[in-house]
Amino acid sequence: MRTLLQRTIIDKEPNLYPIWLMRQAGRYMPEYMAIKKASKGFLDMALDPVKASDITMQPINAFDMDAAIIFSDILIIPYALGQGLDYTPAPKLDLFDPKIFDTDLETFFKKCEPVYEAIRKTRQQLDPSKSLIGFVGAPWTLYRYMKGNNDVASMDPFTSREHIQSLVKFCVEHLSKQIEAGCDCVQVFDSWAGDLGEDFIIDYCFDPTAQIVSEIKTRHPDVGIIGFPRLIGREVKNFSAWCDPYLDCVSLSGDVPVKFLYKHLGTVALQGGIDPEALLGYDREAIMNATLPILRQMQDMAYVVNLSHGVIKETPVDSVAFLVEVIKRFRKQSRN
Ligand code: CP3
Repeated sequence: MRTLLQRTIIDKEPNLYPIWLMRQAGRYMPEYMAIKKASKGFLDMALDPVKASDITMQPINAFDMDAAIIFSDILIIPYALGQGLDYTPAPKLDLFDPKIFDTDLETFFKKCEPVYEAIRKTRQQLDPSKSLIGFVGAPWTLYRYMKGNNDVASMDPFTSREHIQSLVKFCVEHLSKQIEAGCDCVQVFDSWAGDLGEDFIIDYCFDPTAQIVSEIKTRHPDVGIIGFPRLIGREVKNFSAWCDPYLDCVSLSGDVPVKFLYKHLGTVALQGGIDPEALLGYDREAIMNATLPILRQMQDMAYVVNLSHGVIKETPVDSVAFLVEVIKRFRKQSRN
């Protein structure tokens, strides 16, 4: 059975408007804070399959979202490669050593095993009509954190391309294992793609992402794949072209007018674009104003409701509940 999210992004069925939010499980939820208080830091939550699965289910139980995203982090890949990781509370990685790319897959999978177990546990609890989303950070975003350097122009181009290529391999393997454990859709987060100027965007964003997406689609043709090249403006058109025909959906960061997307991104489904700041301060009118124009513009397109970035931690729970209510009412009317 296809979920609403799969029907929208793989089959390109319009007007279904499935909703989930990036960072839908997190510090704005009192249920999350209760588990956090009883834990010894972020890794103690993310690498405990029972806690990670319970946290993943919190926004499903509270708001009846159409998809759950597994509670983990993009930095689990460097962690599993042996780069020390601590969240205090911002993530801090130990000094980068390129030897970590020689890590064998068996060792890598063993360290990621709690994530796969959390996925299996979540799939057992989650209604089959809802998607379970797995994810990775895209190679450039991971590399930026691993090196502690956001300036690609200052990096040795041959060495960094080699490292990016190693990350492609581990991203593919980590996504595949998440799919085998029960994820039916995946998202590739390139949160820092906007740092890459036009000199670097092909080699560091488009090409590595396209390699990941084509390999995953070939191995798992029934899994929906979402790309999130954040803040790259109109380059989003070239991103989709590079990933065609393997990428199902592009997640938007609100920096490109919907009119442009209409004209140029015909073959992929679209996701997101709603300003997360509209959810601050519980203002029902602000929430409707930030949402309804986008829903109307996306009419008769395959569109997934989401934000342009993660839920902000100061967001009132009532704002998220109201957003979901608006979407569900809109959905009902648009089907009549
Ligand atoms: O979206 C979800 O609900 C699933 C879980 C998820 C987390 N991180 C949990 C998390 C996902 C998909 C991520 C992805 C992630 N992690 C990205 C890409 C998306 C984005 O936001 O741009 C990035 C860049 C990271 C790295 C990261 N992890 C940072 C910069 C931080 C600290 C800053 C912050 O927002 O707290 C984290 C920690 C983190 N990852 C938290 C959560 C819920 C906060 C943990 C806490 O303080 O309780």
